[in-house]
Amino acid sequence: IDFKIITNDGTHDSMKMLIDLKNIFARQLPKMPKEYIVRLVFDRNHESMCIIKDNIKVIGGICYRKYPSQRFAEIAFLAITATLQVKGYGTRLMNKFKEHIQKQDVEYLLTYADNYAIGYFRKQGFYQEIKMQSDRWKGFIKDYDGGTLMECYVHPTIDYGN
Ligand code: ACO
Repeated sequence: IDFKIITNDGTHDSMKMLIDLKNIFARQLPKMPKEYIVRLVFDRNHESMCIIKDNIKVIGGICYRKYPSQRFAEIAFLAITATLQVKGYGTRLMNKFKEHIQKQDVEYLLTYADNYAIGYFRKQGFYQEIKMQSDRWKGFIKDYDGGTLMECYVHPTIDYGN
């Protein structure tokens, strides 16, 4: 499997992979309005890291937005396709993502975790206690009732690769 960063760059391959990823998000995050998922996945401010099997098949991914001036990134959506959950892909994806985002000078990750996903995020080093000063992130990301805000510190020199 490969991990690729995909953006809405207008190429056929990127479009196909973003559509596949959008469909996984829509199925795995049924409470999220579909139009909202589509909007963010194809938004030019957002990027996605996809897990790709056999060079073409998207089996999961993470859609995020970087706030370079604030040195944090928000994870909007994260999911693994149903048949391949709890096999370690979600952990590998998060490690790859941290490795990538660390090089972009991002210091913190923020996400609104679904109740069901809080356990997963805890295992990936996310905490409900927000250490980042609020003026650094409040107003940059939207308040969202349906989830628990969690934060992960990305150490600048830890090797997250595995
Ligand atoms: N609750 C508690 N623990 C969990 C959960 C969960 N929902 N899911 C996985 N875990 C645990 C696993 O048991 C495993 O623990 P271990 O290391 O002690 O064995 C660990 O977390 C990692 O498991 P992985 O196999 O790496 O996780 P997976 O590949 O299934 O990916 C994910 C986790 C992304 C949450 C996946 O199950 C999924 O797509 N779920 C449905 C969609 C979802 O809930 N997405 C997150 C919503 S929040 C958001 O998008 C911002």
